[in-house]
Amino acid sequence: MLIARTIEELRNTIASRSYKSLGFVPTMGALHEGHLSLIQKAFEQNDLVVVSVFVNPTQFGPNEDFDKYPRNYSRDIEILQTAGVHILFLPEIETMYPLGHEVEIRLPKISSILCGKFRPGHFDGVALILTKFFNILRPNKAYFGQKDYQQTIIVKKLVEQLFWEIEIVVCPTVRDEDGLAKSSRNQYLSAQERKNALILYQTLLWVASQVSVSRDLKFLAEQARQRLISAPSIKLEYFEILRARDLEPIDFLVENAIALGAIYVNNTRLIDNILLTVENLN
Ligand code: PAF
Repeated sequence: MLIARTIEELRNTIASRSYKSLGFVPTMGALHEGHLSLIQKAFEQNDLVVVSVFVNPTQFGPNEDFDKYPRNYSRDIEILQTAGVHILFLPEIETMYPLGHEVEIRLPKISSILCGKFRPGHFDGVALILTKFFNILRPNKAYFGQKDYQQTIIVKKLVEQLFWEIEIVVCPTVRDEDGLAKSSRNQYLSAQERKNALILYQTLLWVASQVSVSRDLKFLAEQARQRLISAPSIKLEYFEILRARDLEPIDFLVENAIALGAIYVNNTRLIDNILLTVENLN
């Protein structure tokens, strides 16, 4: 595996390879099985696989966990090497932001709801770093996990609006045996907090089980919120059911919808979601 630390190194390495399709998996490191599933998909669909590991400062708010976000670069390198990744891009902050935070890329509407409402500026930071990565790498395909559903919708919009010819591939959420969605932030949880965290996925499963009884999504979302509010030891940030393709409001399940939630377990913020499809309903 070649490790490129500068943009020039990365560009030269890519230019020296002959490939039909470049698959790109952007990550913030602290790699887990969720990332590995994206990498595996990238291998199935491309003959050159590039992974980036970069904890992007512009997508963290002033009171968020940028400083304590888990970083273990030697472990990440080992994992990526074992996975057979061709190129790792491992830049420093100064490499990606040579003049500091000088440029903005914003998708104001979609970035101001759900996670964006509670993490102002977060998706602007994501859009900015991905714009930089996409411009340097020119990937054919880029891989994201469904757990960050709003991010996937934003990235698709970004690609469409900036006329990139990049296919955004969304891979299913990988879960632990108990159902907890894999996340680098799970490392923050104690054993008891982990147990408390399961209420989010259990509520999502409950919603999914209810849509065959009631297609009234407003009612179901309210019921789900009540379950979460009354759950011990967690704090509900939001729980919504929206149209899956664009996260616009939808009252009844007449086309695919998505239930999404964010909770705090102690100081750890966790998100999860479940697709509610119309196909299997009568
Ligand atoms: O999903 C993430 O890990 C990050 O938001 C991403 C896409 C790597 C951008 O920093």
